[in-house]
Amino acid sequence: MDSYAVIGNPIEHSRSPEIHAAFARQTGEPIEYGRILGNPDDFAGDVRAFLARDGQGLNVTVPFKEQAWRLADELSPRAHGAGAVNTLIRLDGNRLRGDNTDGVGLVRDLTVNQGFRLAGKRVLILGAGGAVRGVARPLLEASPRRLIIANRTAAKAYSLAAGLANYGQVAGCGLAELAGMQFDLIINGTAAGLQGRLPEIPDDLLAKGGWCYDMLYAREATAFQRWGRAHRAARSLDGLGMLVEQAAESFRLWRGVLPETAEVIAMLRQQ
Ligand code: ATR
Repeated sequence: MDSYAVIGNPIEHSRSPEIHAAFARQTGEPIEYGRILGNPDDFAGDVRAFLARDGQGLNVTVPFKEQAWRLADELSPRAHGAGAVNTLIRLDGNRLRGDNTDGVGLVRDLTVNQGFRLAGKRVLILGAGGAVRGVARPLLEASPRRLIIANRTAAKAYSLAAGLANYGQVAGCGLAELAGMQFDLIINGTAAGLQGRLPEIPDDLLAKGGWCYDMLYAREATAFQRWGRAHRAARSLDGLGMLVEQAAESFRLWRGVLPETAEVIAMLRQQ
């Protein structure tokens, strides 16, 4: 049986093992999937040990995505652009290919599962860290009219947007500069919600009929989802669908089969 795992720190709350076990049942692929508590000072050593146990692929989560990007022997174009790797695929011997499925996971959840049309829309993404870097390019590929990247530390948003300037419709700014702007979709890609907090944003940011999407997921509504509901969002979603979609794309990279996600999302919602 081929062996896979998710590596991160902390890792005990990761739902990836449940998701991949469900994919394996559904597709009949003979895999096992575990979790590894990564050592922040020796990520490379943990990966080598996994390969020595005949491991075939890893999902990589906080705080190792940038280290995985550096460790990979080769990178997919989307991982190269993101500067972060969430999927490692074993090639021949001990060589590793790095990919990033976060962006495609977000876009598929928004467009396929939820039916939101990104083309022509005014989109705001909050944050400019690793999570946002991973999804900015795939969002731009879906042709929004405008993508604003806004961050508490404005300089990080400016430099992220500058690296994407070939797309034309992207700009970076600080949170205070959002005053007077309106958006059809606001995506929260900050880590503020991990402490139950919110980025400081104006109250009139959401256009009538606009949607909110939090890349975080928790068993109860997240702080940003609650902000969306309080500000009359037509839909205010969490990141569970994105989590399952990025996992499905990793599974496809490893096994060559793209699992059905709807039944797995429904199963996780019930638990
Ligand atoms: P990740 O890889 O999860 O994106 P990160 O690279 O540390 O983690 O980035 C965290 C993001 O959340 C940053 O955009 C951070 O803003 P700063 O760049 O100004 O630090 C943002 N963030 C974290 N806590 C926040 C808060 N309370 N309010 C607003 N933004 C916050």
